[in-house]
Amino acid sequence: MCGIIGYVGNKDAVPIIVDGLKKLEYRGYDSAGIAVYKQNSFDVVKQKGRLAALEARLAERPLSGRMGIGHTRWATHGEPSDVNSHPHVGSKNKIAVVHNGIIENYKHLKERLEHWGIPFASQTDSEVIAQLAEHYYNGDLLDTVIHVSTVLEGSYALGVMCVDDPDILIAIKKDNPLIIGVSDHGNFIASDVPAVLKHTNKVYYLNDKEIAVLRNNSVEFFNIDKEPLEKPLETITWNLDSAEKGGYPHFMLKEIMEQPKILRETINSAVNNYKSVIDTLDVAKFNKIVITACGSAYNAGVVAKYVFERLCRFPSVETELASEFRYRDAVINEKTLVVLVSQSGETADTIAAMREAKSKGAVTLSIVNVVGSTIAKEADFCLLTAAGPEIAVATTKAFSAQLVLLYILAVWFAVKLGKITQKVEQELMSQIAALPEKAEDILKQIDSIQKYASTCVGYKSIFFIGRNIDYAIALEGSLKLKEISYIHSEAYAGGELKHGTISLVEEDTLVVAISNCATLYGKIMSNAEQVISRGAKVLLIGNCPAAKPDDKLFCIALPESSELFSPSLSVIVLQLFSYYVAANKGLDIDKPRNLAKSVTVE
Ligand code: F6R
Repeated sequence: MCGIIGYVGNKDAVPIIVDGLKKLEYRGYDSAGIAVYKQNSFDVVKQKGRLAALEARLAERPLSGRMGIGHTRWATHGEPSDVNSHPHVGSKNKIAVVHNGIIENYKHLKERLEHWGIPFASQTDSEVIAQLAEHYYNGDLLDTVIHVSTVLEGSYALGVMCVDDPDILIAIKKDNPLIIGVSDHGNFIASDVPAVLKHTNKVYYLNDKEIAVLRNNSVEFFNIDKEPLEKPLETITWNLDSAEKGGYPHFMLKEIMEQPKILRETINSAVNNYKSVIDTLDVAKFNKIVITACGSAYNAGVVAKYVFERLCRFPSVETELASEFRYRDAVINEKTLVVLVSQSGETADTIAAMREAKSKGAVTLSIVNVVGSTIAKEADFCLLTAAGPEIAVATTKAFSAQLVLLYILAVWFAVKLGKITQKVEQELMSQIAALPEKAEDILKQIDSIQKYASTCVGYKSIFFIGRNIDYAIALEGSLKLKEISYIHSEAYAGGELKHGTISLVEEDTLVVAISNCATLYGKIMSNAEQVISRGAKVLLIGNCPAAKPDDKLFCIALPESSELFSPSLSVIVLQLFSYYVAANKGLDIDKPRNLAKSVTVE
């Protein structure tokens, strides 16, 4: 979704903002823009397309200034175009705004403003903020921002400048992320930490309806009643290298390769930090666990459902898409544990699901990667994944970290519920501890996966099948492939094939079959034979020593592992397969079309 960066300080804001925008590219965007304060006015350059296009415009029409705001826009209201790009400046050229979020009552506000004779330049919801701010402006920008925020409905993270205040940059947020960075040469607002990390690792996390007033040598915080606030200054512990490609052609490949390390760190951090947290949770009081999330995080939840059911024998474990859960009026209460899974901690539907669960009295536990994010802060309990910054839009390492944390949670719950002995707990924990090394072994097969994937670029459609927990991870394999390679794909439970999908199988269809469930090996192989006999080719991923590869059957063997934790191994092959299919098609792997890293609007 949109990215915001703003700077006020004693250096030229323009290169700082352009560099910050580059660090926010991963969020997904279709246009970009920048505005700097310049002698009682603003200099603005906005451009549809990639940042390279904005840079080309800036080369023709250079800007400079000590205070500015920049934005990468992911269109929601109004097509991607120069005029719809941010920053938006009001018709009196007094106030400039960058916005991430959606203003739900913008039509009504726009009608009112137009009725008062205020002309609009764009089709965006965001422009109403700049126009409203100019309309309410009384000489005090802080008052004006507070006034505007009381009128806006929806979600927003805002950066606001006024021509009357050459050194004041104001930020406010509601339901969309915004951080404030402080450095020795100036201060920043940004949607995410990587945008400021080159200059500082000291940040404040803004909470909803908190306002930051930045000057070149100070930052002050206020609540919506204009009362001053004290906020803790946090230190970011990861460095810029974690947010750089480190010699890999794409962030996605780098992040796939980091997985053994990330698994190790997440396991260690869970054992060292979270066992005591879970000890305080009265698991026996729950009669239902609902795991809710979006996209890949939801798929992690589908895998976890199998693990929780198998180990904890819980009466009810449900996995539900957060976008459905939030509107379903689910039957949950204080005896329900709602587990929220999210890399960003800012996904709008997952936040709404969390708030819905809390309003019904459920206990909420989140598994989140981004420290200081809304879900990390608002859930009753939060377990952080130690994946570090994930830049590629398609998640890989954060997904793996979510999975392993969910396994550990299931093991601890099973012990607390008396469903497994301590001896079994130790066995399970040592199987989990062995996953990083097994992940390393899989990564050694990268060449054969790459070679095989290079033969698959021509497919229009690829199907993924599995049974039981292999079906759960097939969902993730299918999502990964379609989002970065633009090849249509579907995942099916093997047993469902004959209930519909097999009609799509024809000469040279590719079916990816995942097989780690020993007792179901015969069944999945019989599915494979059924599709092969109709002309399909099969890529078999799993621990299947009995499989006999031939021109129709290609096998990628996984190291032996417990069936319950095998998704952590299958997924690495699935990620590499998708990556190399997309790479062979020459696609923009880290920033697939139309997708955003953090879906902060509905
Ligand atoms: C897919 C992907 C998305 C996210 C989803 C949820 O590769 O990355 O499907 O998993 O948008 O995002 P988070 O985990 O940030 O809530």
